[in-house]
Amino acid sequence: MRIVVGITGGIAAYKAPELVRLLKKAGHEVRCAATEHALEFVTRTTLETVSQNSLYCDLFASGRTEHISLKDWGEMLVIAPATANIIGKVANGIADDALSTLLLAFSGKPVIMAPAMNCEMWAHPAVQRNIETLKSWGIRMVGPEEGELACGVSGVGRMAEPAAIAAAVYAAVQPQQLQGQHWLVTAGPTYERIDSVRFIGNYSSGKMGFALAQTLADAGAEVELVSGPTSLSINHPRIHRTSVESAREMYAAATEAFPRCNGAILSAAVADYRPSECTDHKLKKNGSEGMHLDLVQNPDILATLGSMKTSEQTLVGFALETDNEEANAQHKLEKKNLDYIVLNSLRDKGAGFGVDTNKVTIIGRNGSRKESPLMSKQEVAHLIIKTITL
Ligand code: PMT
Repeated sequence: MRIVVGITGGIAAYKAPELVRLLKKAGHEVRCAATEHALEFVTRTTLETVSQNSLYCDLFASGRTEHISLKDWGEMLVIAPATANIIGKVANGIADDALSTLLLAFSGKPVIMAPAMNCEMWAHPAVQRNIETLKSWGIRMVGPEEGELACGVSGVGRMAEPAAIAAAVYAAVQPQQLQGQHWLVTAGPTYERIDSVRFIGNYSSGKMGFALAQTLADAGAEVELVSGPTSLSINHPRIHRTSVESAREMYAAATEAFPRCNGAILSAAVADYRPSECTDHKLKKNGSEGMHLDLVQNPDILATLGSMKTSEQTLVGFALETDNEEANAQHKLEKKNLDYIVLNSLRDKGAGFGVDTNKVTIIGRNGSRKESPLMSKQEVAHLIIKTITL
């Protein structure tokens, strides 16, 4: 595909060359268009070198109709980062520089924006109104994400990672092969209450499960996302999120949704045990004595779905292992009546909990086996969906 990457003036502009590199690696042809302010953060030389094309940034340089020829050349426009300024201009039909002029001329073709700004700017009603206007015109938003911002505060406003933006481009160029299907995804950890202030939990962030939900929805499926406690947010018209806390709540939501689904992918890190009792007050320290917690087993959601599964449904589990990885994963595949199991090992650096990357082996009940290198969780999600829906 011929893609125009538009860059506006925010600190996240330094990530634009990486996005261009990923798009080129995926086989797309790329030309860059930048605002004057963007070039305060990333140089013309860098953008021209990574795209291997000349940069468009001056409305009045060399031929005054370059915005028209670029809009004719481009099949998709990706703005990363998209500042509050460019969002506001487009929402209000203002074209006063090269990029905003191109944006207004670029009608009838897909546009993706990756907003990036200070969290209070992002929350401002004017920005939110403009975002809703752009979305109602079919402009696709990727992010922003929550995290530390360049101004030193934490909040929602960070530009999505280049890999996530590249994944959105990939999704937009894919045929919607899962249209009309319903899928269930579990994500994140569960919290098992000990008392009114403490719980047993784990380090799952929900990133793997959210990437799966996004990929399924991008491919046209309606997605029931049952998520344990996480700070992640997701905004997609086809993703229906149910937030739960404990394994038993996740069990109730997942078993209710599964019968109307074509398939389910269970990536949540569910606590196998919970305290047999939960007090409604804070437990006090008892002198210098130790303490014993009595634990009982939680229901196994995946095994239950395995026993409910019809021959029309696809069931995919995850296995998080630290040793005897393949043998343990194979055992879970058979015992829980799965079609596929996705093995990730905590022995692989950069894989598993919390991080943005993962490295997996997808094992099928028919003996198929696919190993991935270390990739972004979005890329892993694509590989999984591609493998299980072929
Ligand atoms: O959330 P992230 O930070 O992105 O991290 C992603 C991840 C590491 C959590 C994910 O990639 C992963 O490996 N998820 C499964 C973690 C796990 O609990 O594995 P397990 O081997 O203990 O469980 C096997 C399978 O049974 C899993 O599909 C699990 O969802 C399911 N299970 C387990 C126990 C239970 N009571 N009910 C279940 O459904």
